Amino acid sequence: MKIGIPREVSSEERRVAVVPRTVERLRKNGFEVVLETAAGSRADCSDAKYLEAGGTICDTAADVYAQADIVLKVNPPTAAEAALIRPGTILLSLIWPASQEALIEELAARGVTTIAMDCVPRISRAQKLDVLSALANIAGYRAIIEAANRFGRFFAGQMTAAGRVEPAKVLVIGGGVAGLAAITAARGLGAIVRGFDTRLAVKEQVESLGAEFLVLDFEESGEGEGGYAKVMSEAFLEAEMKLFAEQAIEVDIIITTAMIPGRDAPVLITSGMVETMKEGSVIVDLAAERGGNCALTEKGKVVEHHGVAIIGYTDLPARMPALSSRLYGNALVAMLDEMGGAESMTIDMDNEIVRGSLITHDSAVTWPPPKPEEPSIAPDYSKDFGKRPEPTDEATSVDVPPAKRLPESLSTVIGGIAVVLLLLVIGLWAPASFATHFTVFVLACFVGWQVVWSVTPALHTPLMSVTNAISGIIILGGLLHLSGGSTVSAVVLGAVAVFFATINIAGGFMVTRRMLAMFRR
Ligand code: NAI
Repeated sequence: MKIGIPREVSSEERRVAVVPRTVERLRKNGFEVVLETAAGSRADCSDAKYLEAGGTICDTAADVYAQADIVLKVNPPTAAEAALIRPGTILLSLIWPASQEALIEELAARGVTTIAMDCVPRISRAQKLDVLSALANIAGYRAIIEAANRFGRFFAGQMTAAGRVEPAKVLVIGGGVAGLAAITAARGLGAIVRGFDTRLAVKEQVESLGAEFLVLDFEESGEGEGGYAKVMSEAFLEAEMKLFAEQAIEVDIIITTAMIPGRDAPVLITSGMVETMKEGSVIVDLAAERGGNCALTEKGKVVEHHGVAIIGYTDLPARMPALSSRLYGNALVAMLDEMGGAESMTIDMDNEIVRGSLITHDSAVTWPPPKPEEPSIAPDYSKDFGKRPEPTDEATSVDVPPAKRLPESLSTVIGGIAVVLLLLVIGLWAPASFATHFTVFVLACFVGWQVVWSVTPALHTPLMSVTNAISGIIILGGLLHLSGGSTVSAVVLGAVAVFFATINIAGGFMVTRRMLAMFRR
């Protein structure tokens, strides 16, 4: 299958859908890759590097679209670009379908299958495809870099021969992916950082990054559906703004990221608050795209007010084009894998990731997707940095009605009685040695099953040492058979048990090591 990558047409866009490293991975996965000339030139990716990675270069976008079975893009296609896409092509791009009605209709009419990378459901399994989190992470980091660029002092305090320089104080409003990335970057530069969010679940994450979490003396939870925030009451917003008014006098830099999906950004920093800030202070408003969290923010611009710079850039990830393109490309590769890869590319309507991101298919608009059923057993840790959705009413409605369900403790008791009865029956006729072994075997199965099954599925990770403990017991049993096995079959079975249990333990440690490595610097 041939993948086509056109150059992004917007003159302000510096990113490209794939970097040379991604081309190598796509080639390894069995795809051919065709790129428009200079597709990645604004992200430090020359044609020569793409050629070296195994791609081929075309002179025009039309050539790319004419050859490609799959088109990879960053921004939604313009009308002119859409007109070049052949019927039957699979398009993977950011689409923002809620504001692209005409484009979606056009793509459906042309028989294009469209996958919107911005619509990947935020579930644990889809984390490596979650481009919104990847881009928000870059935006949060870049917000601090932009602030540092404007700010006239060190972030970390210094005691020098020439005098004392006090550390910068940074307030981050909103502790989502972008907010947490901003906190990490500001702490890294040595600033004193404070964070605030309407969801108290964020408190621990903010504190674990070395920042102080500001708590409001107001009883209202900001937890909404799917781990996202909900709209807060007027009274809460008023109390929150009082807190920010006090902070504005003290802090030097404010990063605002407060957003509720599908809504305009709440205005949390008034012009009056800006006027109380010290001269030379900086506000970076990441919510500028949706009106801004600061009353003075102008989309895409830097505004000066009473000596305070208010930065409203909406292209923060694109200001680090090489990194953004690389992470975006990784998500595209993961999505192509999810769809079956070069060998068996299919649109599987039962695959929740593919279905959730599918915008047009078979000449029809398939967005929005049907609402997925909430898991009824365990909550889904659905986002980076561990936001936890509350189970909804619908979740309980798909459950078995409580009245008809046998209470778990009762079924355990019944199971226990059945086991005891079975042992009694066996004890009556079986030889004493068999009865002893059988008792241990049954208890091991029963207790083992109870132990493993009682663990919340969300915690079934390689870190769950219980499985390693069980494997350890198996190895011990296997070694006993190996050393003193009475028959050849006992020795062979002992060796097999030791072999497989060792794989389990060693594999568990290897995966754990990789997971821990992700958190190491
Ligand atoms: P997110 O949805 O994960 O985080 C938003 C956070 O704001 C949530 O933790 C929420 O609880 C909090 N929040 C909502 N209302 C609040 C309020 N009244 N007070 C305090 N906190 C409140 O979103 P994410 O991914 O972290 O992105 C944050 C923002 O950055 C979004 O507006 C997003 O569109 C924007 N963004 C901007 C970019 C740019 O170039 N300017 C690039 C990428 C993202």
